[in-house]
Amino acid sequence: MATSNGAVQPATPTVRRSIGGVSVADMAARHGTPLYAYDAATIRRRCHDLAAWDTVRFAQKACSNLAVLDLVRRAGVLVDAVSAGEIHRALAAGYAPRHAPPGGDGLAPAHPIVYTADIFDRDSLDAVVRHGIHCNCGSADMLEQLAARSPGAEVTLRVNPGFGHGHSQKTNTGGEGSKHGIWHEEVPDALRRAEWAGLAVTGLHMHIGSGTDLAHLAEVAGALERVAGEVGRSLTTISAGGGLPVPYRPGEVHADLGGYHRLWDATRRRLEDRFGHRIRLELEPGRYLTAEAGFLVTEIRAVKRQGSRTYLLVDAGFNTLARPVMYGAYHPMSLCPADPTLPEGQVARGAEVAVGGPLCESGDIFTQTDGGFVATRVLPEAAVGDLLVIEVAGAYGFVMASNYNSKPLPAEVLVDGGAARLVRTRQTADDLVRGETV
Ligand code: LLP
Repeated sequence: MATSNGAVQPATPTVRRSIGGVSVADMAARHGTPLYAYDAATIRRRCHDLAAWDTVRFAQKACSNLAVLDLVRRAGVLVDAVSAGEIHRALAAGYAPRHAPPGGDGLAPAHPIVYTADIFDRDSLDAVVRHGIHCNCGSADMLEQLAARSPGAEVTLRVNPGFGHGHSQKTNTGGEGSKHGIWHEEVPDALRRAEWAGLAVTGLHMHIGSGTDLAHLAEVAGALERVAGEVGRSLTTISAGGGLPVPYRPGEVHADLGGYHRLWDATRRRLEDRFGHRIRLELEPGRYLTAEAGFLVTEIRAVKRQGSRTYLLVDAGFNTLARPVMYGAYHPMSLCPADPTLPEGQVARGAEVAVGGPLCESGDIFTQTDGGFVATRVLPEAAVGDLLVIEVAGAYGFVMASNYNSKPLPAEVLVDGGAARLVRTRQTADDLVRGETV
């Protein structure tokens, strides 16, 4: 089925030979498997899709490789950071810590890096103070802690509007069941505390969850407008947060981004009329910018029958891609057969298989549903030595990988202009024990 922008989700067994014009087999031979490959052109296209927003701020938690940060920075996208480590990455990728002078368009200057969290751990507080990073505070305690170190700072409040929605309960960040944000009824108290601490509240932010639908996201605009009235004229920036969905399953399509922007633009204009000055409108996508650009290339190392089921066991596990075990998330898959005569594209016949990894855990299955039930997928007939490509893996893929079972983190390559560039080397056995002593 074709998506609204022409991308095709494989609904039938598919052979994939290349990513961004570069041979999958060559990349695997050169860099080993498992391997994350990102297609730069797709990331650029996704940045461009959102050009109507005054500021697009990449939630780098989705994919924080320095080369990806550099790429989105060059595409005019600013960045969000949730830790001292992410601030360090943003700076290393060339982002300035503080904003440039106003641009003459009447909008307040945008902060290149914003720290968004519900707490300051001691490292992150040190980092924001040292670099003068703007903070988006998800708890009132952060206000006094910041004021004690950065008197007179400007801040954004992250408000929990009392409702939320996500692709999984674990990615719902609004409502009473969520620890995130300042509870909407507590905003007057947070404003008093900010004023008392000598901070100026210039920004308002809401993010209700990830991978939800636009109907739910749209409710945020009304909730934010109500809270903006409580904050008042000090407000210069509003953020719609992230959570833009991407198509993972066959038949899913891209959301109506134009309509979504129009809704938020109308909200912003009403606030401008009310306050008598311009308001900057921000969006904070993570997965939208990188999910579809990312591919996890694995090698099939065993094909087993367990009763009536066939399992393909690959060399990546939930240590490499955690989304299926954590959320029952669905990722499209394609095969890159070792036999070079099989052409790229959809094949007429496939086999129904379950796909698992190498870990000593029965949950190490890529084809599972929420709740941990093993599901199957129809893939082209596969053999040991073929490569299995797990797709739409560029968001919350590598960044959630771990060293469980003492497996090294995989390499990452950026495919751009028909060439693949290694942007992170695979960890070595020495990396695994670095810092340990007997
Ligand atoms: N802004 C804030 C404050 C967030 O907490 C998040 C995601 C985003 C933006 C970006 O959301 P996105 O546009 O990527 O949906 N590991 C989960 C997703 C967790 C998202 C956490 N916060 C997954 O693999 O689906």
